[in-house]
Amino acid sequence: MCGIIAYSGHRPAVPVLVQGLKSLEYRGYDSAGLAFVHMEKLHLFRASGKLEALEAKLDSGHVLHATSGIGHTRWATHGLPNEVNAHPHLDVHAHLALVHNGIIENFQDLKNMLSGCGCSFRSETDTEVLVCLISHGLNQTGSIREAISWALNLIEGSYAFALISKDHPGTIWAARQASPLIFGQGTGENFVASDIPAFLPFTKDVVFLEDNELVEMNSSQWTVFNASTLAPVSKSIQTVAWDVQAARKGGYKHFMLKEIFEQPKVIRDCLSGRIDRKTGNIHLPEIENLPAPGRLHIIACGTSYHAGLWAKYLMEDMARIPVDVEIASEFRYKPLVPEQDKVYLTISQSGETADTLAAIALVKKHGMPVLGLCNVVGSSIARESDHVIFTQAGPEISVASTKAMCSQLVLIFLLSLYWAARKGLLDRQTAEKAIAAFETLPGILERSLPLMRETAASIGRKYSSSRSFFFLGRGIYFPLALEGALKLKEISYIHAEGYAAGELKHGPIALIDPDFPTLAIAPPDHLLGKVKSNLKEIQARKGRIIALTQEGSGLEVDDTWNVPRTWGYLNSFFMLPALQLFAYETAVYLGKDVDQPRNLAKSVTVE
Ligand code: F6R
Repeated sequence: MCGIIAYSGHRPAVPVLVQGLKSLEYRGYDSAGLAFVHMEKLHLFRASGKLEALEAKLDSGHVLHATSGIGHTRWATHGLPNEVNAHPHLDVHAHLALVHNGIIENFQDLKNMLSGCGCSFRSETDTEVLVCLISHGLNQTGSIREAISWALNLIEGSYAFALISKDHPGTIWAARQASPLIFGQGTGENFVASDIPAFLPFTKDVVFLEDNELVEMNSSQWTVFNASTLAPVSKSIQTVAWDVQAARKGGYKHFMLKEIFEQPKVIRDCLSGRIDRKTGNIHLPEIENLPAPGRLHIIACGTSYHAGLWAKYLMEDMARIPVDVEIASEFRYKPLVPEQDKVYLTISQSGETADTLAAIALVKKHGMPVLGLCNVVGSSIARESDHVIFTQAGPEISVASTKAMCSQLVLIFLLSLYWAARKGLLDRQTAEKAIAAFETLPGILERSLPLMRETAASIGRKYSSSRSFFFLGRGIYFPLALEGALKLKEISYIHAEGYAAGELKHGPIALIDPDFPTLAIAPPDHLLGKVKSNLKEIQARKGRIIALTQEGSGLEVDDTWNVPRTWGYLNSFFMLPALQLFAYETAVYLGKDVDQPRNLAKSVTVE
């Protein structure tokens, strides 16, 4: 995780770096720092805690003179989140400064080797080892480019880094291996960063750097090299469609709230151009050449994994495709048994999740096809997958994922319809009902979100002193129950567990008492009777219940929360934002840092 940015141009660099770091804070926020060269000296500013702590240290005097520099926002992997371990790190001579995202796995061996050569270290980080290694290489080769190539040859692990040198003001070197790094070309200024929003206010022209590539840039020139051979690599510039406003809060108190309220638009965007209203055909040209699988294996992490579990219910019902769903960190260390007709589907918002990427590598090693469902264009997962469908949710900044899951569910639904049709299983009537319901869904959701938020706030307040929560659901609402529990725990720090409603009596019900409430997703569908019985079992043990339901459920519980009703599976698109808002309002009421919850980072680029 961690966010890095580097700038060389005509503007004062420090404000550009700080602004960039603000948009990268979602990647880590336990310390921050920046470095630049001024008057032939390397200047270093670092602070533990949020970015404001760093800003407070930047006096307005000479910091405004530098027109190039590097910045970092950290999510600790090696060493405590304190100032000494904060990036940038310097080499022993204080000639080089480096910011790094990733993990150098053999850092201890390299540290021992460098210590043997008289190198001493100030921090506990693997990053300091990297900059000292490059410095050691520089002593031998006399060229920074060659020193980097030499050092990268020795290191094992993942990295995206940017480096500056006291002796070459204005020049920046940056390279990547299994961690994201994007180059941005401006006019008389150039950037590299972990993510596009870091330089989006200045340029939309980007180059996606690949593994083992090294870019050398100043304000007016840039060249990409193969990091091993140092042969120049020709790269093409792409213009991204993201707009700056989408990466800002736009009047909302938190990114999370903004992103929850963006879901009607997300649904519209995901559907746009995908449905032929006349014929009822679904357009997924990205997978035209991929036959409907005999079996689907879904791999993902966290919220994306919950979307995968939801997909299992739909795919098996509508397209009659048997589905396995696995957590990427488990999948990657298991033997893979190749099966004919099997397709692996990876789901990821960021496209950079290390475990999901490793799972893709394993699948490809066995020659099996990978279909990626991914939000970030140009991300590693998008590039590594054989086929990719973009979820088009736009930049998701809040650490807690909301609109990305909504977009994943829309695409999964379309994929189920598409494969059902290809297998001749989709009858005209179902297709028409689904499409008609999809068309009205964004409008209904848009109108109902403000009231949903009010209800979430009042119920959230009422239960905010609870120490623990159960979230229950059956069928497609079981994965949503898992997601509701994940959202509540990650931003409000209230312990919450999601369960299949019928599973409670097999052990967890022992925990129920008046102080252990349950939020049950219980719409009036074919499973309501079963859920009702489960809720009675909870009430018999004096457990309090919030039912997230719809008109006509006839439930008698402590709090009944009705959301609008639509056709079949699409009802999930009302339950999901209600759960997100419940977590959001509870966390706000408890005064938690909603967009940047403790111990978390947005994209998990380490194992
Ligand atoms: C939870 C959350 C995480 C991510 C998970 C996978 O709100 O955001 O659980 O869903 O880290 O990330 P992606 O989808 O980027 O692979």
